[in-house]
Amino acid sequence: MGRGFVAVLFERNKGPPHSTKVIPENQNKALHAWQTSARHWDKYRVLITEMFAPLTSGLVEEAQIGIGQKVLDIGGGSGEPSLTISRIVGPTGSVTYTDPVAGMLDSAQAEAARRGVTNIHFRQCSANDLPFEACTFDVAVGRLSAMFFADPVAAVREALRVVLKDGCIAFAVWGPKEANPFFSTITDVIDRFVEIPPQDPDAPDAFRFAVPGKLAGILEQADAKNVIERQLNFQIEAAISFEQFWQLRTEMSETLREKMVGLTPTQLPTVKQAVADVARRYFASGTMSFPAEVFIVSGRKSGI
Ligand SMILES: C[S@@+](CC[C@H](N)C(=O)[O-])C[C@H]1O[C@@H](n2cnc3c(N)ncnc32)[C@H](O)[C@@H]1O
Repeated sequence: MGRGFVAVLFERNKGPPHSTKVIPENQNKALHAWQTSARHWDKYRVLITEMFAPLTSGLVEEAQIGIGQKVLDIGGGSGEPSLTISRIVGPTGSVTYTDPVAGMLDSAQAEAARRGVTNIHFRQCSANDLPFEACTFDVAVGRLSAMFFADPVAAVREALRVVLKDGCIAFAVWGPKEANPFFSTITDVIDRFVEIPPQDPDAPDAFRFAVPGKLAGILEQADAKNVIERQLNFQIEAAISFEQFWQLRTEMSETLREKMVGLTPTQLPTVKQAVADVARRYFASGTMSFPAEVFIVSGRKSGI
């Protein structure tokens, strides 16, 4: 599996300026959608762990997470990266898993119990309002969650508040759609059939921080120091067929579930066949392998 940091895209005072419009904390609809998604994320937890493992490794590497550390996971979903990091920090360390969605927390907590993991604490809360004292954690990470924060600058300030002086915060977010055919092979086809209302580029969405420098700029606005954005290219790999990929994607994604409702019964098989034609090159000998691109964006709490 080819992976590795290929470029530092942003360093302090070198990134492009970006507006950081605040999306109101009216997240009810979005959180309800995540609650609906939770059972699907639970169902596909083994595949999720396998497919996105390079992102966890990227965060662990970037934040230099090691034995004995206290780590905060923001937006932990069905349990990653908390479950993996709990093994890395070991019994002398701990992970605090957070997510605002009860279904996600239940899923992660049940899996930790099933595995007999005892060094993860669970709290249901939003990134914008972390119920922890200042300077509680060595490190705070978020895997594929920062794009959904209601107010990203406030959330990053919260993450900085709860880490120790000089502590690292690090987030993994998707790079451009064109570099992520795992998503675009389906959405590009469906979007030809379903009318798409104009999108606000600052609204919570998987590709909200796909523009290089955008999330790094938010860390700067929140007064993080040593802000770095790295591009990580990897393969999303799993031993599944196109049929299983189609099922996984159309169940896990709220955006796709919504779009599928807009298709007529005759359009659905046409769309699926068109996606299969485009996706064929990513499936061989019973294995799926999509090239993928994320940004790992990190910064440190300034030492006042
Ligand atoms: C794409 S999932 C990623 C889950 C997990 N970290 C992973 O990588 O498998 C995004 C997660 O962000 C959570 N989320 C949504 N809004 C959030 C917010 N305001 N604060 C923290 N997490 C949020 C969702 O509930 C969901 O569990």
